[in-house]
Amino acid sequence: MKRSPMPRKSVDSLTPYTEEPHAPLNLADNTNLFEPNPCFAEALAQVQPDMARSYPSLQSERFCEAAARAHGVKPGQVATGNGSNELIDLAIRVFAEPGERVAWHPPSFSMIEVFARAAGAQVHAVPLRQPGFTLDADGLLAARAKVTFVCRPNNPTGNSFPRAEVERVVRGLDGLVVVDEAYGDFVGDSFLPLVKDLPNLLVLRTMSKAQGLAALRIGYGIAQEPVIQNLLKVRGPFRLNALSELIGTRAFERPDHVERVVRETSQERDRLTLELRTRGMAVNPSDANFILFRPPTDAARLHAALERRGVAVRKFGDPGLRAWLRATVGPRWVTQRFLAELDDALREVGPSR
Ligand SMILES: Cc1ncc(COP(=O)(O)O)c(C=O)c1O
Repeated sequence: MKRSPMPRKSVDSLTPYTEEPHAPLNLADNTNLFEPNPCFAEALAQVQPDMARSYPSLQSERFCEAAARAHGVKPGQVATGNGSNELIDLAIRVFAEPGERVAWHPPSFSMIEVFARAAGAQVHAVPLRQPGFTLDADGLLAARAKVTFVCRPNNPTGNSFPRAEVERVVRGLDGLVVVDEAYGDFVGDSFLPLVKDLPNLLVLRTMSKAQGLAALRIGYGIAQEPVIQNLLKVRGPFRLNALSELIGTRAFERPDHVERVVRETSQERDRLTLELRTRGMAVNPSDANFILFRPPTDAARLHAALERRGVAVRKFGDPGLRAWLRATVGPRWVTQRFLAELDDALREVGPSR
């Protein structure tokens, strides 16, 4: 009897990415709960069935041109991925040999560690400091890793590390520094203008969050040309499908959409922060479209009570975050419904003993 083949050792101990169970009110994945970029519906209305037969463009050229125009760089400085998480994987595989160091600052986007381990890299954690989940820039500098990840604003903590600290990390290292700006639209200031001066900087962006196009899986990275050329040596062709390229290219023509989502998110985030604090929660200051909060009761029980009421928020296995939950910020009606269910769930769970 034949056995199932064994994977590489570095893969055997990993577990697939999980998400919260689907719930009528999904506040667990930081997607846009406002509206998607209107170009989505406009572009779909113009799609011809003929389009289905051909491959999309090899390197998503039209998308890269639009992204370059929007961000003031050259098209050759843009690489696309099937979501920005593909570019995290790629950056590690291209710039760190197996056994070489990849540094990150947990708690952060958990896929960094998974991709690094799968690539056989040596994962070097430089934990965020308490209180306030602040960046240990000296720790990241001391690690001297081949690839270093900084997530700004950080997921899941929501805060945006001081610009000068992150810049010190990029300038002080020779290895690649990936500044993940998946939530960069919400904070306003970006590391993109520094790309022209810093040959070791790769900035990652996604259309999954403020743009409201998570279903299309559009991520892109911007760096100086040699970094992009090296990424393209390993990344497969046609990574954006034709629909994603069409709609993603159009999305840049509607900056008003992102501006509105960011403005409304910021208003609702302030309101939700206040409301949570009134209920005795600790709230980590957020520059993103989600809030990390510590309830005055058992977080796992509150999470389960919310789930029974049809509300999914994110809970964490990481020991430093077990007392915390994370919720996406949405429009006013979402905040109202969340707070109503939260109050009901808090009554059920009661204060912690
Ligand atoms: C910090 C961060 N980076 C990258 C991603 C990946 O996003 P996507 O693959 O949808 O572009 C996420 C998704 O939640 C994220 O939170």
